[in-house]
Amino acid sequence: MKRTHTCGELRKSDVGETVTLSGWVQNRRDHGSLMFIDLRDRYGLTQIVFDTARPEALKLGHEVRSEWVLQVAGKVLARPDDMVNPKMDTGEIELEVDSFSVLSRSIALPFEVDDYAKVGEEARMTYRYLDLRRPQMQRNLATRHRVVHAIRETMDKHGFLEIETPILAKSTPEGARDYLVPSRVHWGSYYALPQSPQIFKQLCMIGGLDRYYQIARCFRDEDLRADRQPEFTQLDLEMSFADEEDVFRVCEDAMTAAFKAGIGVDIQSPFPRMSHAEAMAKYGCDKPDLRFGLELHDLTDLVREVEFKVFRMAVEQGGIVKGIAIPGGEAFSRRDLDVELLDIAKPYGARGLAWVKIAAGGEYAGAPVKFFRKEQLDAIAGRLGAKPGDAMAFSADTARVANASLAAVRNFLGQVKLGLAKPDDFKFTWVTEFPAFEWSLEDRRWQSSHHPFTSIHPDDVEFMLSAGLDADSGLGRVRSAAYDLVLNGTETASGSVRIHDSRLQRKVFQVLNLSEEQIKERFGFFTDALRYGTPPHAGIAPGIDRIVAMMLGYDNIREVVAFPKNAKAVDLMSDAPGRVDARQLRELGIRNAEGPS
Ligand code: AMO
Ligand code: AMP
Repeated sequence: MKRTHTCGELRKSDVGETVTLSGWVQNRRDHGSLMFIDLRDRYGLTQIVFDTARPEALKLGHEVRSEWVLQVAGKVLARPDDMVNPKMDTGEIELEVDSFSVLSRSIALPFEVDDYAKVGEEARMTYRYLDLRRPQMQRNLATRHRVVHAIRETMDKHGFLEIETPILAKSTPEGARDYLVPSRVHWGSYYALPQSPQIFKQLCMIGGLDRYYQIARCFRDEDLRADRQPEFTQLDLEMSFADEEDVFRVCEDAMTAAFKAGIGVDIQSPFPRMSHAEAMAKYGCDKPDLRFGLELHDLTDLVREVEFKVFRMAVEQGGIVKGIAIPGGEAFSRRDLDVELLDIAKPYGARGLAWVKIAAGGEYAGAPVKFFRKEQLDAIAGRLGAKPGDAMAFSADTARVANASLAAVRNFLGQVKLGLAKPDDFKFTWVTEFPAFEWSLEDRRWQSSHHPFTSIHPDDVEFMLSAGLDADSGLGRVRSAAYDLVLNGTETASGSVRIHDSRLQRKVFQVLNLSEEQIKERFGFFTDALRYGTPPHAGIAPGIDRIVAMMLGYDNIREVVAFPKNAKAVDLMSDAPGRVDARQLRELGIRNAEGPS
């Protein structure tokens, strides 16, 4: 037997037992005639004692180095009282070595396998297998396992079938670039790795499977950020004869089970809901962090007539003026307001961030004050809910810029500057009724806000079917039946009620400026399928990587992915993507391109 126990298992009640442990040498404390080794495996550490009672073992033990793999047999001893280590699960015992063998040696390490060692990102990724040995990475992946396991149980309980869909597939329209796989048999033809199983899961509904789910790998060639990997995992689900209420219920169950299993946290459900319009009005963005208030308010109607040019001009040019109250902001310095907050707003296009402070006695202070009458400032402060001791910050711009820049200011205040958002607080919210289409200035055409299979809000279907297709056709006001699940300011899931009517589907494709040939070529099989009796259906896909990362308090999802890629989509360990043989390319009918021309 290679081991009778794991390295995290032995307790005081095991004292006197003869056991065998196997694991890695965490560290070695060599006092000559007395030596200690901490032996490590996934389950923990156990202290091994070598002494002169076993001279052969001690002699051999002196040679042992970090990360060697040992098998140790011996007797469990109680540690002397003053040696008990309450920080270790096995801190009340130690193993007195009787015999041991070296199962494997390690060459010199590029870094110490230790949560507290400062190791650069590049080294961690290059030697990911060593990084994975760290207790923190082991905990992260174990948490991820429990989350996925709990999700599977929940889905099974709700009657969902776990169904695999193809990885070698045809391009699906999630809006990113595809990863392509050349066909050897059909030169010049390519499979696309799925950006999501969207079309297949809808075909499962048309196929009568009623309830589908999959822990699905998705592939997207897009610009990477901390919360994006080129391949990532979704809980992808779809249900027939269902509307958003059914999807919400199942998804809420899956999320509460995931949080309980992952980190032992009880999440309250049902989750609150708000429309996209409400989210934009109150928070300036479609993924509000609800761990704190700091709501934004539109002041446009209050500032139409004011002398302050910055505000008046913005309104005259069709823009808006929005503001936020900063609790305790009276104490902010000029630097806090004119440099720090402005720097947060600028990347979103803000040209300035006007501010006014309210002193303890209620007097207003700040550059713009002289351009306002007191009643005007009172009305603004009243709307923002700003009190003596607070400050108010304003953005006057197009609705897009004012919202985006104040949303960033709000997040900075709540999450950083005022510290109102607690990391162990998890506030989910549904955001519903997204706009169906966005006008792309670049391409001069309408694009789906979600994807082309998303249904239209029932109240807007009639308008949509009769609307024209140009920029001012009013299509921007059409609401979809799409919804997002937002957690602490991050989009964690996206879904929609789908179109099950081929007439509406055709119109959506038209709006997206797809020609008959393009529709036929790209989605012909799918539009055909829609005509053979399609049940009403709806679904959603929560991102597993993001959810597990948030549970554990990470900004970067690679902490919960075993073998992630870096920001340039490179796997530093295996050095993928790599070049391939000329012969392999010839077989595929590909001539090696010399790079972008
Ligand atoms: P969507 O494209 O919004 O919807 O993706 C759903 C969820 O997947 C996660 N996600 C990502 N996670 C890590 N890295 C990425 N690059 C990445 N991209 C997306 C997010 C996101 O909320 N087919 C639809 C779902 C549906 O309509 O049912 C879809 O894929 O958490
Ligand atoms: P100015 O008259 O340009 O010196 O601006 C006066 C104040 O208004 C300064 O505090 C600027 O930061 C602020 N400001 C300028 N443009 C805007 C804007 N678009 N929205 C909000 N505040 C602005």
